[in-house]
Amino acid sequence: MDVSEAIRKRCSVRQFRNVIIPDDVLHMILEAARWAPSPFNTQPWEFIIIKEKETLKAISKYARYSGYLSEAPMAIAVIVPPINSKFSWVESIGEPGFAAAMAVQNMMLAAWEMGIGSCWVSIEREKVAKILNVPDTHFVLTVIPLGYPETMPSEHDDKLRKKTEDSTHYEMYGKKVTK
Ligand SMILES: Cc1cc2nc3c(=O)[nH]c(=O)nc-3n(C[C@H](O)[C@H](O)[C@H](O)COP(=O)(O)O)c2cc1C
Repeated sequence: MDVSEAIRKRCSVRQFRNVIIPDDVLHMILEAARWAPSPFNTQPWEFIIIKEKETLKAISKYARYSGYLSEAPMAIAVIVPPINSKFSWVESIGEPGFAAAMAVQNMMLAAWEMGIGSCWVSIEREKVAKILNVPDTHFVLTVIPLGYPETMPSEHDDKLRKKTEDSTHYEMYGKKVTK
């Protein structure tokens, strides 16, 4: 599968077979994160591999629309450590968070290429940080369930996506023609 096919075909998976993915496959997914871009190559991401059912269940209580997290065979919590940058705004996740999100996309695409589904799950980060013993200085960005899809989701409906021309401007905001 090439990159454009993975980008085009990947979709969020929320129901999984009850099978833990092999360690070497998991390693390849984590490895994909290493190559994401980051400010000054600071690589502000850490991961917690979660396979304990009780932990998944506890986290799912603080996850948006995501009771299914408790049924997933495993998940990766994405943790963002602080970095020293004037662009790391204290009141928001800032640049390190963007970089960690890019690492997540790399992992999602690498997983998809190997037949493994995933989904970004938004969580109440302070509650989840407590469950996972993450220090206050760090930010829990998301928890990503991972596994072989129970059924293959149908392909994306082109009509449900914004058209490229609708989200593209030329030279100035609002200018929709190239000349
Ligand atoms: C920042 C972000 C937050 C999301 N939060 C949730 C979530 O809390 N629960 C969930 O089931 N899916 C969540 N999603 C997945 C989106 O619903 C999904 O990506 C979107 O509907 C497009 O579908 P696709 O991933 O199949 O292309 C989130 C995705 C992103 C990028």
